[in-house]
Amino acid sequence: MIELRQARQGDAAKIVDLIYGTPGDEAIALFGGNVAHARAYGAAKIARQGVVGNDIHQTFVATDDGVAVGVIRFEVEEERSWTPVEQLRTVLRIVGPAEAVRMIPRIRAMRNVRNVIRPGLHLTECYVDPAYRGQSVGTTLIEWAERVAVAGDMRMITCETMLGSRAQHWVERLGYVVKSVALDPTYTRLLGCPGRTYLEKTL
Ligand SMILES: CC(C)(COP(=O)(O)OP(=O)(O)OC[C@H]1O[C@@H](n2cnc3c(N)ncnc32)[C@H](O)[C@@H]1OP(=O)(O)O)[C@@H](O)C(=O)NCCC(=O)NCCS
Repeated sequence: MIELRQARQGDAAKIVDLIYGTPGDEAIALFGGNVAHARAYGAAKIARQGVVGNDIHQTFVATDDGVAVGVIRFEVEEERSWTPVEQLRTVLRIVGPAEAVRMIPRIRAMRNVRNVIRPGLHLTECYVDPAYRGQSVGTTLIEWAERVAVAGDMRMITCETMLGSRAQHWVERLGYVVKSVALDPTYTRLLGCPGRTYLEKTL
């Protein structure tokens, strides 16, 4: 039976696997097509934020028999993101100096597609184990986040998706409305993605 609960430290490896087991096109392109590097970067990001004890960036899991089969992560206020130095240090550790230099234009291009995110509960990741997709696990996780928002007196829930992605159409069906689209020709050329869509749902 599928159950929802707050993530525990013991879920961390499974959470990384759910989110970065198959990294997204943008993450793979950022690392010049190297899937292992994209995964390592994602793992470092999650390790920095932590999946427990972070009141700003919270993590919940859907479990089957105690094992995480879906994850949702959201920010209840804007979390301090990696400074350029912290980001560079992490990239250097993963890819070494020569590749890090080659990545600079791609890292910079990613900064060109930032939407303005309004206050509220901001969904950062929602992933379901491929074997469990299409069984409403993702919908249950999002509805859970919406209840957390309402309980915390937040009337707005927001998220970003890749422009035109399946994820975008999925959240639109759940009542999220496109408020802006961030496009940049350099980003599209270097990262191979059309742009990022910002969506909101009033609760
Ligand atoms: C998007 C995702 C979380 C949906 O979870 P889910 O448990 O399959 O969702 P539900 O069962 O509640 O809803 C199913 C709907 O999700 C949509 N969907 C979006 N991406 C999908 C995918 N990769 N595989 C299957 N369904 C997907 C389908 O349109 C499906 O609707 P349909 O049955 O009418 O076609 C899940 O498919 C996933 O982890 N995808 C990869 C990661 C991702 O894109 N996350 C969202 C952005 S952070």
